[in-house]
Amino acid sequence: MNAAGFDFGTSNSAIGIVGGNGARLAPVEGDATMLPSAVFFDFNDHDKPFYGRSAIDSYTAGNDGRLMRSLKTILSTSLINERTALSKRSILLTDVIAMFTRHMRSCAEEALGAPIEAVVHGRPVRFVEGDDAADRLAEDTLRAVAQKAGYSDISFVYEPIAAATQYEQSATREEIVLVADIGGGTSDFSIVRIGPERRGAEDRRGDILANTGVRVGGTDFDRNLSMNAVMPLLGLGSELVDKSLPMPRSTYADLAWWPTINLTYTSKALREANEVHRLAVEPQKTARLLTVLNKHLGHRIAFAVEGGKIALTDAERTAIALAFVEAGLEAPATRDEFEEAIERELMRLRISVWDCLALADLQDTDIDTVFMTGGSSLVPAVEAVVAQELTNASVRRGDDFLSVAMGLTLEAQKRYG
Ligand SMILES: Nc1ncnc2c1ncn2[C@@H]1O[C@H](COP(=O)(O)OP(=O)(O)OP(=O)(O)O)[C@@H](O)[C@H]1O
Ligand SMILES: [Mg+2]
Repeated sequence: MNAAGFDFGTSNSAIGIVGGNGARLAPVEGDATMLPSAVFFDFNDHDKPFYGRSAIDSYTAGNDGRLMRSLKTILSTSLINERTALSKRSILLTDVIAMFTRHMRSCAEEALGAPIEAVVHGRPVRFVEGDDAADRLAEDTLRAVAQKAGYSDISFVYEPIAAATQYEQSATREEIVLVADIGGGTSDFSIVRIGPERRGAEDRRGDILANTGVRVGGTDFDRNLSMNAVMPLLGLGSELVDKSLPMPRSTYADLAWWPTINLTYTSKALREANEVHRLAVEPQKTARLLTVLNKHLGHRIAFAVEGGKIALTDAERTAIALAFVEAGLEAPATRDEFEEAIERELMRLRISVWDCLALADLQDTDIDTVFMTGGSSLVPAVEAVVAQELTNASVRRGDDFLSVAMGLTLEAQKRYG
């Protein structure tokens, strides 16, 4: 049976195949092995779907249609059974995930030159925190999605365990590693014993010492930055004429978080925004909100904010360009402000590291290596908060975006190779 390793990420996805030349990642868009987890339905072409970079480009070019990003997040929320409107019909969000999964499977089959029936599928340690039934439902939903996409043999591996498998390939000695996979939607931690002698062993369960996970990721960082730096320019925090009431927050909150942006494009949201605009003390700001809702610019803002966040990884300050809302409009942001805005999230990461150590029954000083992976591990404050907890450990990195997919593919090779 041919098998793939599939990392379905909140922000980016990759798929690997097992063939004559061993385990390798399949090209999924041109030569690229990583695909942004995005789908765009083109309303002017019978809702034709586009995937990845081309989905984002179609939306950004101003084509009329629906862009979907952060689809994985809906598995962890009440949106799990929701539909989204296309030009003449609506579609279940889980069916959009199935289309994306099938697209990735086709890319893998094309690279392999043969049908692929089995998949080793990544999953976060926790889809849902503190609710085992909801967590199981999320995995069951993803299994049903994979079946719909054509797989008949489906198994799940924790994403940080997959990253550990990849890291172990280069290990030259036995060590205790804490893997920190900080992605777009979740942050996952695993403590594992790895080493060249252990690599080939059939049953590795005894080497997995603990796993923890929290629903904190880059999309939350984007939301907080947007709420702090951008939404105030659209009226958040200003007042209504009537009794100095504060501006209602909900539309701003939906607009600032990738999974809920499409909720702001409904006629109900627009009606409410018009009402708020009529009563606003600073109508020049709420006028921008109306522009954003009318022209479906929410994702454009989210991309601009994400770009600003990434810029703050290397720079102390940046300006988030919003000229597509209003000529010359921009939102200044500094790294200090950003770090303050994500303080709660950083604390939750810190607690998850502590929990992982406690579950493994280890002291912070027992960890030899921290293996950092996932795009959000590049945020300096994130690396600092994880490394701070582990004083004896050296920090290692692999491929920040592809180590999970490679690890899943190595596991597929072991199981089906
Ligand atoms: N240089 C950078 N600095 C800060 N953040 C970054 C940088 N590059 C990418 N990111 C962020 O990393 C996140 C994506 O990381 P990654 O691809 O590892 O997530 P994912 O695997 O799709 O998500 P998950 O594993 O949580 O489902 C995005 O939020 C992105 O904005
Ligand atoms: Mg990931």
